Amino acid sequence: MTDWTFGEKSLVAGAAALAPSVHNTQPWVLEFHSNNEVVLVERLDRQLPRHDPLGRDRLISCGAALEHVRLAMCVLGWLPDVALRPDHTHPDEVARVTAAGRRAPSEVDMLWYGAITGRRSYREPFAARPVPAAVRRTLLTAHGVDGVGLRVVAEPAEVAALAGLLNHSALVLRADHAYQRELSAWTTTVRDPFPGMGLSSTTRRTATLPWAGLVRRTTAIPDVGFLADRLSREFLVLVETPDDGPLDHVRAGMAAERTWLAAVAAGLAGSLLTQPFQLHEVRAGLVEALSLNGFPQLLLRFGQPRGEMT
Ligand SMILES: Cc1cc2nc3c(=O)[nH]c(=O)nc-3n(C[C@H](O)[C@H](O)[C@H](O)COP(=O)(O)O)c2cc1C
Repeated sequence: MTDWTFGEKSLVAGAAALAPSVHNTQPWVLEFHSNNEVVLVERLDRQLPRHDPLGRDRLISCGAALEHVRLAMCVLGWLPDVALRPDHTHPDEVARVTAAGRRAPSEVDMLWYGAITGRRSYREPFAARPVPAAVRRTLLTAHGVDGVGLRVVAEPAEVAALAGLLNHSALVLRADHAYQRELSAWTTTVRDPFPGMGLSSTTRRTATLPWAGLVRRTTAIPDVGFLADRLSREFLVLVETPDDGPLDHVRAGMAAERTWLAAVAAGLAGSLLTQPFQLHEVRAGLVEALSLNGFPQLLLRFGQPRGEMT
């Protein structure tokens, strides 16, 4: 029987705390057990009833944190065995990760773990240089999570349809007072909020278009043609799942975070969006416009950062 050392627990918990989460709510806790087992538990008290009434984003966030836990275990020299929602009597247990043995971390483990500290939501416009085709191909196959599909949005007709749907969601959510009150409640004046502390009010001042961030009461919304033009210059990847249940949401979060870390490791910047997906008509519109086979869960946007990533 082995047990966690203090340093090991700190490393795993520290990695989880750097995961992206909806509105920076960090809706999880880690329970460390003997035999180097760690359980990631969903924090059901971290509710966003207006933005996330079904808890979909909460589980996507848990999936992203799980990926950080998995990588931390790898770099500690453990072979992590991940069981998703292992106990039906405790549905808030998102995953149980056990150390199935000793194994030296792979090059990819090291690369992605190294990218954890460099990842942050990049809501600014990207530099003009496109993402090279070889990097695009690598990112599309990086995640390896069962059932999760990545769908590039690049054809002009698809980009135009996406722009129309994003424009629609921006107009609806900007005018939704309850939605905006909830967003304000999770916004702090602290410039770099601690994990779980909500969003910085500085993100609202980012000089960019609304699809790249969160639409607020004062966000200026450009016309659809302008939006489509800007979208066409980004590497946009839609994450879809075969069904729309809790496991799909966790897996979507894992796949998105692996892809995001692979992008950071390749020198790219990116951000993850679900705000527009809160509207049923946007999700339905995406299924139709992109002829999706599955359920759209989130959008990743990648590009070259302008200047140094901070
Ligand atoms: C499920 C999920 C949904 C998110 N949706 C949005 C979004 O719609 N717009 C946005 O700007 N950021 C979104 N984010 C990014 C979070 O706001 C961000 O991860 C959090 O504030 C922590 O900041 P960081 O990513 O820079 O570490 C989302 C993140 C997750 C995991």
